[in-house]
Amino acid sequence: MFEIQAAPGGVGAFVHGIDIRSDVNGNVAGELKQALGDYGVLFFRDQEISEQDHIAFAEQFGQINVNRFFAANDRFPQIAMVVKEPDQTGNIGGGWHTDHSYDQEPALGSILVAREVPERGGDTLYANMYAAYDALSDGLKETLNGLRALHSSRRAFGANTEYAPRKDGRIGNPELATQDSIHPVVITHPISGRKALYVNGGFTIRFDGWTEDESKPLLQYLYAHASRPEFTYRFKWEKGSIAFWDNRATWHYAVNDYHGSRRVMHRITVEGCALSA
Ligand code: SIN
Repeated sequence: MFEIQAAPGGVGAFVHGIDIRSDVNGNVAGELKQALGDYGVLFFRDQEISEQDHIAFAEQFGQINVNRFFAANDRFPQIAMVVKEPDQTGNIGGGWHTDHSYDQEPALGSILVAREVPERGGDTLYANMYAAYDALSDGLKETLNGLRALHSSRRAFGANTEYAPRKDGRIGNPELATQDSIHPVVITHPISGRKALYVNGGFTIRFDGWTEDESKPLLQYLYAHASRPEFTYRFKWEKGSIAFWDNRATWHYAVNDYHGSRRVMHRITVEGCALSA
């Protein structure tokens, strides 16, 4: 029987007493999914899993989304490679964001497995979008509850944007960055039923019906508010660590502080559903 222990910070929980290769059947997967919705991120330690185990674990929670932009694992296209080599300075995911908000049906979550980690650095920060919403004033909650926002893959993955100049093979297909979608700014989380703030600096462009200039001050306010330290937790990776985060309830930020070292992570993203207010 596994145990869930809340992380010593603003988001997430550690799952103890589980071997994800053998212990995750229908009931256990259901309990983990509920915990994911409640805590936002589940952390596992000491899981020596193969790529096939990673895929089998992910499939317990839904269909796998094969990412259009990330370089894929040579043998398993379901696995996206999140890599930084010693001679590379830019990392992937080095800013607050949540994955796939540009999709009409944004991904449920992402399951990141540490394959090779630097001796120091390379942590990932997570932020809690339930807590961020709850801490807003009633007046701002009321305003946000009436709004929707446009999200797009173009800003990060399109031509001439954040990742495009690298040409190092880690991110590609800028011509496929055509996804735009509109979601409520405050969603009712599909698992927990709680309200969560659903805008992010990586992919949100503007409020629906507002210009980008008009949207910017309020979005910037929300980004500063939602990344307050009390809503966050900083996860230190070890080889064999896994983080399974819910993209609807959290943001994440890969800290780029380990130049000269190698970091290799395997990511699988699980499909989600349309979001409602
Ligand atoms: C990501 O944004 O998916 C990457 C997170 C990480 O490498 O820690």
